[in-house]
Amino acid sequence: MRLVKIDKYKPGMRLGKPILNDNGKILLAKGVELIDRLIPKLKKYNVSTIYIEDEVSEGIEIVESIPEALRVEALHTITKGFQALTDLNQSNSNLQGMMKSSRAIRSFQKVFKDIVASLTDNQHALNLLATTKVHENYVFNHSLNVSIYACQLALENGLPLKNVEEIGLGAMLHDLGKVHVPLELLNKQGELTKEENAIVKQHCEKGFEVLRKIHEIPLTVAHCAFQHHERVDGTGYPRGLKGDEIHKYAKIVSVADVFDTVTNPRAFKPAVLPHQGLEILYAGSDTQFDTHQVNLFRECIAIYPPGLTVTLNDGRTGIVSKYNYNSAGRPVIRITNNEVNENVSPYELNLGARENLMLEIVMADALI
Ligand SMILES: [Fe+2]
Repeated sequence: MRLVKIDKYKPGMRLGKPILNDNGKILLAKGVELIDRLIPKLKKYNVSTIYIEDEVSEGIEIVESIPEALRVEALHTITKGFQALTDLNQSNSNLQGMMKSSRAIRSFQKVFKDIVASLTDNQHALNLLATTKVHENYVFNHSLNVSIYACQLALENGLPLKNVEEIGLGAMLHDLGKVHVPLELLNKQGELTKEENAIVKQHCEKGFEVLRKIHEIPLTVAHCAFQHHERVDGTGYPRGLKGDEIHKYAKIVSVADVFDTVTNPRAFKPAVLPHQGLEILYAGSDTQFDTHQVNLFRECIAIYPPGLTVTLNDGRTGIVSKYNYNSAGRPVIRITNNEVNENVSPYELNLGARENLMLEIVMADALI
């Protein structure tokens, strides 16, 4: 299986993985042959890359970081939970509202235990590009992804499970305040005006105000919502906190938040691939992000996920076929083209054992 840009599809290619919506419903099944009239539909849903199965990529497996059923359950929990917590705030904490919010918190906690268990069982580096999805609600999907990245980063920090779960909850609820931001601003195509930007920025305080009043939620969780846009050099918002004035949990959530934001398509901004997302974090390390957390994050994610087409610095081209667990940036490559771009009979090259070879260019047909 390999990842191709949708514009580069050729008639006769077959889907290697199904295309799903947020509810886990299959929109296009695995094995479906791509035909011309499907392509505009997929583009309309913002699907820019697809996994295809062909001879050259046979046997390359793309493993999901958390099982699809758990992802669907988690999205359902987030959707209901955001609503319950927001209603509670608006209805001035009546008894029914409080019971609903307690139920929501309990289901969040249950989903987390399952996510953390799945992450600790799964030895693969995180690859949230492993399934092609059509997102109907960006905020809920983003909340789930940030939570998965933040849980993994918290585990990488060696924190006890109780703290990992608190960070996961903080990450899942970090954008709760966006429920109050008009959808037309969140989905606006193009730059926001100064006034619109000020409204969007209020989501940190609004989320904090809701969360700090719920006694089952630790204050540190509420601070993830309050501080996830603070930056270590003091240029963030809402309070312009610096360095250690920012809670460690919020530092973890901000790294996860930015990585998921840039690796997903946004209004007028195409998504970048994982290695480019990591470059963005490194470019901001010590000014925007805590350098230690960025370094640890590198270990959490599949920088070059299997299925990606890459070029080596000697000119050879191939498809990433396997992770190298000890060296995230040096996977095994299935070479398909030689130094002068002629097709060769495919063979595997382990970059972990070849220190002189570098991954130089990720080929255009794999770029999102
Ligand atoms: Fe945010």
